[in-house]
Amino acid sequence: MSVTVIVGSQWGDEGKGKAIDYFARNADFVARYNGGNNAGHTVINEHGTFKIHLVPSGIFYPHTKCLMGNGMVIDPQVLLDEMNEIRRAGINFEKRLFIAQRAHLIMPYHKLLDGLYEEAKGAGATGTTRRGIGPAFADKISYNGLRWADFIGGTFDERLRVQLGLKNKIITALGGNVLDYETVRETYWNYFEQLKSHITELAPIVHKGLAQNKKFLLEQAMGSLLDTDWGVYPFVTASTTLASAATTGLGIPPRKISRIIGVTKAYSTRVGAGPMPTELTDDHPAREQFGETAATTGRKRRAGWLDLVPVKFTAQLNGMDALFVTKLDTLSGIDELKICVGYKLDGKPVEFSTLEGVGMSRVEPVYRSMRGWKEDVRGIRKFSELPKNAQRYVETIEKIVGVPARFIGTGPERQAVIKR
Ligand code: GDP
Ligand code: IMO
Ligand code: MG
Repeated sequence: MSVTVIVGSQWGDEGKGKAIDYFARNADFVARYNGGNNAGHTVINEHGTFKIHLVPSGIFYPHTKCLMGNGMVIDPQVLLDEMNEIRRAGINFEKRLFIAQRAHLIMPYHKLLDGLYEEAKGAGATGTTRRGIGPAFADKISYNGLRWADFIGGTFDERLRVQLGLKNKIITALGGNVLDYETVRETYWNYFEQLKSHITELAPIVHKGLAQNKKFLLEQAMGSLLDTDWGVYPFVTASTTLASAATTGLGIPPRKISRIIGVTKAYSTRVGAGPMPTELTDDHPAREQFGETAATTGRKRRAGWLDLVPVKFTAQLNGMDALFVTKLDTLSGIDELKICVGYKLDGKPVEFSTLEGVGMSRVEPVYRSMRGWKEDVRGIRKFSELPKNAQRYVETIEKIVGVPARFIGTGPERQAVIKR
């Protein structure tokens, strides 16, 4: 039996989708445990290119059972669209996609409120994806959420009536347009009808799989630095993103987790607001090479040199056994590469864990300069075939973080991986 958790060690978009698609070949179960469609996981394989928001990224192998955990919040329309896209690519998942009846629903008022709160915060906004994630998790925690279980148990209509009454008052006060009960009720019942063959209680499936020594691959969404508790608050997301959340988000006992792999992009990116000490300005020559567009919102990702200060911390928080370093191929042609190995605040060295939001926005990065390489390394599958400076770059990462880089991405496609 093995239970492997794949976590992002930075601010999201590390390449978790690609890593899951790579590892899922050997998995019996692939399961998502947190977040919602704020996630955008890119998978590129023989079936095409996919930006996956909700369904586990291991769906492309016909042998995998794919679980959407109770730790998720689900926007049903986004899920139905995504299922259709995957079906159109010729993937059949009718009897192997299972959705937790305990998962909470993203309702239209969550999306409205997400936008209204962001507007009200003005310059202090978090820069959310506006997918309703924060308000949906807030309702879950304050006992105001609606779940798939409410359709099954017959409590949906009445709970919706109460919630809509409350939410319409808030929406009116904030200048938004109120929602009509009958319309929302009908729309959501329609979603349930379309999805009910997949909705179930996951606990028996998970526990039977564990008892039968099946292999589990658990997929984190967002990155460890967006964790509600351990990210730089309030520039975080609304769910616990650490590997530990896989236990509550799926009903897996903590002792069963056997391996934790931290996906780490070879440079840093961030979407939305919040401090990012190694961010490069748009006119920096390396910036073009780091350029990325967000898979969910289409926003331009902020980018900068690899910052290992927080990665070292998230490696400790998660207890990472191995790193999966992605996008090494994108660094070819940059003469001098910089890696941030420490921070200074007011001229003195400072530990990442002691920084709060304001401190983090004032730190100065301490860089180690590394020689780059000119050769194109895309698609290389042997470490020894990498240019010496590329090998040194990876070795420096593992030395500073204190975790071996067992996997290295050399391209966006499934097979572009070096396994050491
Ligand atoms: P996720 O949210 O962690 O799954 O990451 P995203 O999919 O949002 O962003 C990662 C981006 O990097 C995507 O465009 C991937 O196709 C791409 N990617 C992942 N691994 C590699 C790699 O090793 N090399 C290159 N060139 N691209 C990669
Ligand atoms: P994946 O799984 C990158 C960021 C948002 C914003 C903050 C809060 O693709 O790595 P939210 O909508 O969650 O309330 O926004 O979190 N964020 C992500 N950034 N990758 C993600 O997911 C993210 N999910 C949320 O940009 O800064
Ligand atoms: Mg992403």
